[in-house]
Amino acid sequence: MRSDIQIHSSTSFDSSLIRQFTCEHWGDEFVVAHGVIYYPHQLPGFVAKDEKGSILGLATYTLDPPNCELVTLNADPPGMGIGTALVSFVINAARKAKCTRLWLITTNDSINALAFYQKRGFLLVAVHPNALERSRKLKPSIPWVASNGIPMRDEIELQMGLAS
Ligand SMILES: CC(C)(COP(=O)(O)OP(=O)(O)OC[C@H]1O[C@@H](n2cnc3c(N)ncnc32)[C@H](O)[C@@H]1OP(=O)(O)O)[C@@H](O)C(=O)NCCC(=O)NCCS
Repeated sequence: MRSDIQIHSSTSFDSSLIRQFTCEHWGDEFVVAHGVIYYPHQLPGFVAKDEKGSILGLATYTLDPPNCELVTLNADPPGMGIGTALVSFVINAARKAKCTRLWLITTNDSINALAFYQKRGFLLVAVHPNALERSRKLKPSIPWVASNGIPMRDEIELQMGLAS
């Protein structure tokens, strides 16, 4: 990762920047997964910032031992190691909280993310067909077709065991 990029736990001081970052990347200040609404700026998280303090990456999660859910993960710009670093910070936080399972939901169109997670040790454990139908009831702005042309329809659940 670029040496001028720093990662730290998010604090209340980051809240408005995280809100803005979430709006830019998820189309609103909240996200929906498995029928639950999450406000990333209200969750524990890690932020990657450049030397000016601009957010280049964000991971948010929930701790519910033995489970830790990775709720959002974004790196902008991509391909610079930010996403990989953020995942390892979340893994450490989950282990500290005695979680033995890190899991997440992504959507069927997220081909890059599916490659990313599998290369980093996550397993595909479930497909929830048509799950976005339920999500759109909570967040009607979820697009019908992703920017890569794939219809957005299903949730895919991935997980990684954290037992040491
Ligand atoms: C998926 C994502 C978080 C990965 O973070 P990243 O900082 O780009 O990833 P890194 O630089 O640490 O690692 C690069 C890896 O990411 C993957 N990748 C995903 N999208 C990529 C992109 N647009 N450009 C380059 N690599 C990408 C590649 O598989 C690459 O794997 P490899 O180096 O092993 O071949 C990031 O690309 C992103 O924010 N994507 C859009 C939002 C998203 O899909 N979030 C996750 C779904 S919930």
